[in-house]
Amino acid sequence: MPEVLEATGARLSGLKPIEHLKYPIIIDPSSLLEFHEFLRNKNYSNCVLFVDRKLKTHKARVQKLIQHVYPKSMTIDLIGNESLKSFKALYPLYSKLLKKKIDRKSVFVSLGGGTIGDAIGFLASTYLRGVDWINIPTTLLAQVDSSVGGKTGINHEQGKNLIGTFYQPKAVFIDPQFLKTLPRRQMMSGLAETLKYGLILDKYFFYEFYNSMEMAMGGQASVLCDYILRSVRWKSQVVAQDERDTSGSRQILNFGHTFGHALEKIFYGKIYHGEAVVYGMKFAILMSHFKGLLNAKELAESFEVLGRFEVPKLPTLNEGRLWKLILSDKKNERGAVRMVLLKGIGCAAPNQEISRPEFSEVFKIFRKLEV
Ligand SMILES: NC(=O)c1ccc[n+]([C@@H]2O[C@H](COP(=O)([O-])OP(=O)(O)OC[C@H]3O[C@@H](n4cnc5c(N)ncnc54)[C@H](O)[C@@H]3O)[C@@H](O)[C@H]2O)c1
Ligand SMILES: [Zn+2]
Repeated sequence: MPEVLEATGARLSGLKPIEHLKYPIIIDPSSLLEFHEFLRNKNYSNCVLFVDRKLKTHKARVQKLIQHVYPKSMTIDLIGNESLKSFKALYPLYSKLLKKKIDRKSVFVSLGGGTIGDAIGFLASTYLRGVDWINIPTTLLAQVDSSVGGKTGINHEQGKNLIGTFYQPKAVFIDPQFLKTLPRRQMMSGLAETLKYGLILDKYFFYEFYNSMEMAMGGQASVLCDYILRSVRWKSQVVAQDERDTSGSRQILNFGHTFGHALEKIFYGKIYHGEAVVYGMKFAILMSHFKGLLNAKELAESFEVLGRFEVPKLPTLNEGRLWKLILSDKKNERGAVRMVLLKGIGCAAPNQEISRPEFSEVFKIFRKLEV
């Protein structure tokens, strides 16, 4: 039986359900059959499939299921990368949909990685003031992270994801088989986000990950399903407490991201998000130890696992530039640098203030180890 989750995590954690946030997330190698069933049970006027043009085989599978229910459905091939997350790339899509008279009772289906999901979610939330949207994520990063939480968005020249909406899909269908075609480097990048949940929320998962990471890398479906299921559950639980990212409780998901985002900016296009997060988590862990929050044993254990990630070697880094970038990170208020640290493996310590001298000291250690 496929696992059916409510994206609020309410049923799982005992939190109060938030009705308008509920939608099913199906995680199973047979989830596309559920997708087909879902479409059959709805009465949409038409269906538009937006697909990453690289995914020819996956597209054929999904298209066939859609056409069975909606013979007049439309397919739009897209280039799944950051350039799609722009007004320039989306504007012609609005025109195309209007020309084809796609109405408000239609449903959009997105098939692809996080860029396709973010962009098409945004399109769905704004086209004719909102049409239903189903998300089928195909990268590990999209399956464990970006497909949960309702954030859609596009980029601005001043930064990533600065324009967007909170818009929940009607359902998310996750099939780990899509990952068979995903390059190893992309898999690694997605796994970093999975490990992040273990480090901030679940010590036992961290130790399991230690033993099963290789099986996941080898594409073992049962291990991947387990990782995805747990990640989706954790993210849902955190998101349910802070739907619009205002109270700060989502902040723990930012573990490894403050330093990581700065690296991503410096090495734009050269380093993947998850790879930058691996370095960011290492920095945050060193800082946690430096500030006396994390003991030496847990520091060594977490470094051992993070050391297994194949990440590109960093060239020389300029400390002053990194500090400036971190200061300008949108999550930092009133000039102070705040980071999510660890009090232990599986236990996040959000909102920790970091002074410039502390940053310098830890950066020296980081540089010795990593650069
Ligand atoms: N909305 C959120 O909450 C949230 C959270 C995290 C990240 N994001 C966003 O997600 C995006 C990154 O997502 P991503 O890493 O999935 O990027 P992506 O969509 O660019 O996909 C990465 C690459 O993998 C390819 N690909 C996709 N599925 C494949 C498959 N099954 N087999 C082979 N190749 C495949 C794509 O063509 C692309 O080249 C960023 O824009 C980021 O801002 C959003
Ligand atoms: Zn991330």
